This record gives sequence, structure tokens and C-alpha cells, in this order.
Amino acid sequence: MVQIAVIGHGRVGSALAHGLQAAGHVVTLAVHDPDSSSLRRALARNPALRTATPREAVRSADVVLLATPFAAARDVLPPLAEDLEGRVLVDCTNPVGRGLTHGLRSERSGSEAIQDLAPGARVVKAFSVYGYENLEDPAFPGIVRDGRPVLPMMPIAGDDGAAKASVAGLAADLGWDPLDVGGLVQALHLEHLTLLWVRMVRAGGRSPHLVWAALSR
Ligand SMILES: NC(=O)c1ccc[n+]([C@@H]2O[C@H](COP(=O)([O-])OP(=O)(O)OC[C@H]3O[C@@H](n4cnc5c(N)ncnc54)[C@H](OP(=O)(O)O)[C@@H]3O)[C@@H](O)[C@H]2O)c1
Repeated sequence: MVQIAVIGHGRVGSALAHGLQAAGHVVTLAVHDPDSSSLRRALARNPALRTATPREAVRSADVVLLATPFAAARDVLPPLAEDLEGRVLVDCTNPVGRGLTHGLRSERSGSEAIQDLAPGARVVKAFSVYGYENLEDPAFPGIVRDGRPVLPMMPIAGDDGAAKASVAGLAADLGWDPLDVGGLVQALHLEHLTLLWVRMVRAGGRSPHLVWAALSR
């Protein structure tokens, strides 16, 4: 059982919070506005989710999920930087620019910018490359290879191996096949993978339940 704090309780944050609580973890939503309608919706769906101030939520957590708009991280993280020291910070955000381009002009990843905002945190990029529909429901029943279900792949990038392993465990609990894709330097490429998915699905009309699987031998 992992103590998890979730900052941002919209489509991504509430799906992950709900799934992780249902998988047996203790999940606390960081409340930035008690009147938030996304907070109300998340709690109506799963009343077992806990709530706390952002500082209390982070202090009680082993793993912190960041699921706010990318731009909000500039406001959200600096006041929590000390509390995030040594904690796993999962960056679920994506910097998206005009015309579905990379929001930081592909010069560096959003995850590296987030690492700068919380220098002592063990930043891991995960749960970012697909739409929230797949975070709500990552099951692909009936897709079988060699008699075993083929699970959707969840890429995970970060510089801290133990932090990545703990995030991989959470991804597996949610039904994903976690794939360690390397250091945080790979986050830029994951953010481009997101843009590929968004262009194919949101702009191109493909099913939002499009995911990739990893095959290797
Ligand atoms: N949508 C997707 O399919 C998808 C998939 C993967 C990754 N992502 C990424 O995940 C992140 C969240 O996306 P989303 O679709 O879940 O967005 P969303 O539904 O709009 O939810 C955003 C959440 O962040 C909160 N928030 C906004 N500004 C904040 C601030 N300054 N301080 C604290 N909380 C703040 C909002 O609270 P209020 O409701 O109270 O404003 C809301 O709970 C984005 O970075 C996005 O790029 C999105």
C-alpha cells in the first residue's frame, strides 16, 4: 500500500486517484479550492478519497502525482518544493503549444522544467502519453498473445531507478505494462509521443482508446 497525493483532480487526476484507491492505495487529493467543481466530482465518484491542503497531502505521501495544467506548475510547486524533497513526483502534465506543437519549442521537456521547480523531488514522467479515457479504463479484454492478455504499455522516464520502480508498480496495479524508457532526458520524446497521440485522436478522429503495446524478444 502506497500513500499517494494527487495535485489536480480533473480528468487525469481524478481517474488516477480513483483507480489507485480502488487498487488498495491511500489517496489524498490536494485541495487548492474547497469550492472546486472538479474536486466535488472526484469525491462524488469516490468518497473514499481523502482530502488535505496541498502541504499536508504532500507531507503524508510517498508518491505525489502532478495532474494540473502544465502552466499551473509554476504556481503550485515552488511553495511545496521543501515538502517534495526526496519524494517521488510523477509528472503527468504535457506542455502543449499553439497548433499542437511542443509548448517549450522542443528545446527541453516539461518534466525537466518541473524538476527545476522542485529540485529535491525524484521526478518521474508517467501517465502522460494517452488521453484520460485510457486512464479511466486501460482494459483491452480479448487481446491475447500466447494465451496471455496483451496489456497496454505505459512508458516511464526518470533518473532515479527506485522512484521509477515504485511508479511502475502503481502502473501495473492499474492494469498497464510499465516500460522503463530511460532517464528524464527521454521525457521530451514522450511529450512528442503525446503530441502524436493527440494529433491522431483529438484532431484525426481515431478512437480515444488507442494505446501502444510493447513487444520485445
Ligand atoms: N486530458 C487528457 O486526456 C490528458 C492526458 C494525459 C495528460 N494530460 C495532462 O494532464 C494535466 C491535467 O489535464 P486534465 O485534462 O486532467 O485537466 P483538467 O481536467 O482541466 O484538470 C486540471 C486540474 O488542475 C487543477 N488546477 C488548475 N490550476 C490549478 C492551480 N493553479 N493549482 C492547483 N490546481 C489547479 C484544476 O482544478 P479546478 O477544477 O479547481 O480549476 C483541475 O482539478 C495537463 O497537464 C494535461 O496536459 C491530459
